[in-house]
Amino acid sequence: MDIVTTPTTPDGNPELADAAPTPHEPPVIRREDYKPYPWIVSETHLDFDLGLDATRVVSKLTVARNAKADPADTMRLNGDGLELLSVKVDGEVVNNWRMDGDDLILPLSSDAHEVEIATEIDPSANTQLMGLYASGGMLCTQCEAEGFRRITFFPDRPDVLSVYTVKMRGSAEQFPVMLCNGNEVATGEEEGERWAEWHDPWPKPSYLFALVAGDLVSNRGTFTTMNGREVELNIWVREEDLPRTDHALESLRKSMKWDEETFGREYDLDLFNIVAVSDFNMGAMENKGLNVFNTKYVLADQETATDADYDAIEGVIAHEYFHNWSGNRITCRDWFQLSLKEGFTVLRDQLFSQDMQGEAVKRIEDVRILRAAQFPEDSGPLAHPIRPDSYREISNFYTATIYNKGAEVIRMMRTMAGPEKFREGTDLYFDRHDGEAATCEDFVSAIEDGAGLDLKQFRLWYSQAGTPRVTVAQEVVGDGLKLTLSQEVPATPGQSEKKPVPIPLRLAVHSRANGATGPEQLAVLTEAEQTFEYPLAGPDPVVSINRGFSAPVRIKRDVSQDDLAFLAASDDDPFARYEALQELAVGHLVAVASGDRSDADRAAGEDALAKALGAILTDDALDDAMRGELMTLPSESYLFEQMDRPDPARIHEAREGLKATLGTTLASEFHALYDRCEAVPFDGEGARGARKVKTQVLTYAAASDPAKAAELAAHQYDKADNMTDRQGALMVLCGLECPERTARLLDFYNRYKGNALVIDKWFTLQALSLHPQAIEHVKALAKHDDFTLRNPNRVRSLYMAFAGNPQAFHAADGEGYRMLADLILELDPINPQTAARFVPSLGKWRKIEEGRAEKMRGELERIAKAGNLSRDIYEQVARSLE
Ligand code: ARG
Ligand code: ZN
Repeated sequence: MDIVTTPTTPDGNPELADAAPTPHEPPVIRREDYKPYPWIVSETHLDFDLGLDATRVVSKLTVARNAKADPADTMRLNGDGLELLSVKVDGEVVNNWRMDGDDLILPLSSDAHEVEIATEIDPSANTQLMGLYASGGMLCTQCEAEGFRRITFFPDRPDVLSVYTVKMRGSAEQFPVMLCNGNEVATGEEEGERWAEWHDPWPKPSYLFALVAGDLVSNRGTFTTMNGREVELNIWVREEDLPRTDHALESLRKSMKWDEETFGREYDLDLFNIVAVSDFNMGAMENKGLNVFNTKYVLADQETATDADYDAIEGVIAHEYFHNWSGNRITCRDWFQLSLKEGFTVLRDQLFSQDMQGEAVKRIEDVRILRAAQFPEDSGPLAHPIRPDSYREISNFYTATIYNKGAEVIRMMRTMAGPEKFREGTDLYFDRHDGEAATCEDFVSAIEDGAGLDLKQFRLWYSQAGTPRVTVAQEVVGDGLKLTLSQEVPATPGQSEKKPVPIPLRLAVHSRANGATGPEQLAVLTEAEQTFEYPLAGPDPVVSINRGFSAPVRIKRDVSQDDLAFLAASDDDPFARYEALQELAVGHLVAVASGDRSDADRAAGEDALAKALGAILTDDALDDAMRGELMTLPSESYLFEQMDRPDPARIHEAREGLKATLGTTLASEFHALYDRCEAVPFDGEGARGARKVKTQVLTYAAASDPAKAAELAAHQYDKADNMTDRQGALMVLCGLECPERTARLLDFYNRYKGNALVIDKWFTLQALSLHPQAIEHVKALAKHDDFTLRNPNRVRSLYMAFAGNPQAFHAADGEGYRMLADLILELDPINPQTAARFVPSLGKWRKIEEGRAEKMRGELERIAKAGNLSRDIYEQVARSLE
């Protein structure tokens, strides 16, 4: 959409002269400035002459005045980096158009016209990977959010829906397969030239357009919908990747079935295509009938993909498929509403994965992601509500807040309504808004009406940023327990005053004395402070609160180590069990890292943790998948978040120290566990859990007995018949200074040379490793022949891992910060969207001890001073320095 802060003409367009931004200050786009587009584009005909270095695009638009918008005598067509060849109106060449920045302003005098525009683009030169680009000899597109304007001039905003007919032609040898949205209508071939015509009957916004042309093969399947319609499914890949596509196809079938059963949603075309592309900025894209995927979320087999990779593929395939309803049939009015489709679709894919993979473990993993990625965002300089009020570059708002917190917010509605009523709410939403470009407000109203909830105050979750803090105090009064809950939503940039939000907390009251548990309750905290009373289950009440992580908040409470150990060992809610153990570990580690634990307290803390973890290691009733989660100590970045301007080196030391102590104290339990898990064959019962536990055991051993760990890990590596075991073993070896390390790293490289996704793992393992020289390894890897800034997966495999390695990235001399700033500056001209993803790591400067803070801020300032920054980098850096 083209909304700016500068004065606007009646058609909602920026005034020409004074709207032109200085190159250093990209304009701010505001939600409150939304205006409907003055023209309806009922039909869009596109004609492509495909070539890797030059593609010609002719677009014919059938346009008519939009009676619901302010009248306008011009049409604004967005463009970006296009070579304009000609403009016709009603069949006649016209020259009365003008440019406003990158946009074309076309005068139109009547109520209805045919507009025809010819452009030329160079897909090979498109290193941003937005619009039409070349990847490994094929052509493909990425249009969300504003990539379509890099293909042709068009009202590139999500509220302009049009029916597309697309014809493409090109070399039959280069492009034997030609795909687009909807259905193939006709194809032909003559004298080495192939053509294909596609038609998509569903009106859609330009960001859902997709085109793929290349030498691809497909794994084909079918799905019969709930109404008996047969749908053809294809997973398109390069020929050599075909053997690794079965899991993706199976995941797609499961997703289609699940969405029918769980949300009543049926697929609406006769064809569903997925294409895997190795150069891709994001995970995947839900283009209508033609999803385009990062190869990382398609290709898998036992030898090259881990169990976690399998799960991620299943989850992303589901996510993009679910968008067909939550995103495509109902799309967003403007990009401020992004969470309307993303938050809801993430919730849908999470619920799906819970059903496929097990509810407890999946929930723990999702909460871990939220805490690792979203909580820091919410408490840092880039904090924004799930429905932001302004942006400079929309690509910067594809965030954990929009996606993951967005999902949590909708999950809370579901918790308050219950699944059945919630379903009535979503049914109403799909009915009411099918075919529309809707808003978050439309969604909330539909849930309110359909599920019978009052969400008046709840809407604050959409407008306020920041993670609420809930303080819990308990007191026994007679034979009841009085709980006093209070909340505070912290100030965030631009939002100093906050109001209390409704916080649904699932809770139960246990008795530590007799082990009894009261019924689960739902306390909805709506005020700043409120009391609740519940019957006691027996003496020594212990409260299990925010069970299942029913609200995305931080809980603060004074609770004894004994109570936490009790919850960790015996809470009936698996998430609460995990949480209690985390809390126990966090309390201990934060105290140790801050240096305010006496030796005696430290020993007592270690003792409590060893008891609690020992119980987990030997609990026969636990399945290993859950055991593996419980064995995971809170990450250094999570601990960092709990402290006031900490020194990351001390957190690292405290955590590694605890691992060593636990590894030593529980050595025999760990070894017994390892031996049992090692005996489980690849496809045996509970094998996935067993694999997870084995590598967890190795990480403790690495801290307590490195020589033994090296031997065990090398053994696990050598006899591995799957990537989970092999990668886990190599991860541990990477962190050790031992001869086994070099040999296995070399073996891994040679074994998988040529398999980009596995070589990505090879980069990541070294960049993430606990090895004291990790930073030197990263420098060397950046010069490796296989490293390139042109491939986002490769860039992330090295530098995202590096930025997530506290010991290396936070090197006390600031070298890590310099390296990341250099990367950002070098990558920005090539691929600003991917470059911008690295800025938040430096943006944490206000939260770290002063010496490092200075150095981080210095690097941000160095970036800010460099000329010619992209909008993406400009916005992220400016906000990080504010
Ligand atoms: N809609 C896609 C998804 O979440 C992501 C597209 C991201 N595009 C972007 N420009 N950041 O499934
Ligand atoms: Zn999405």
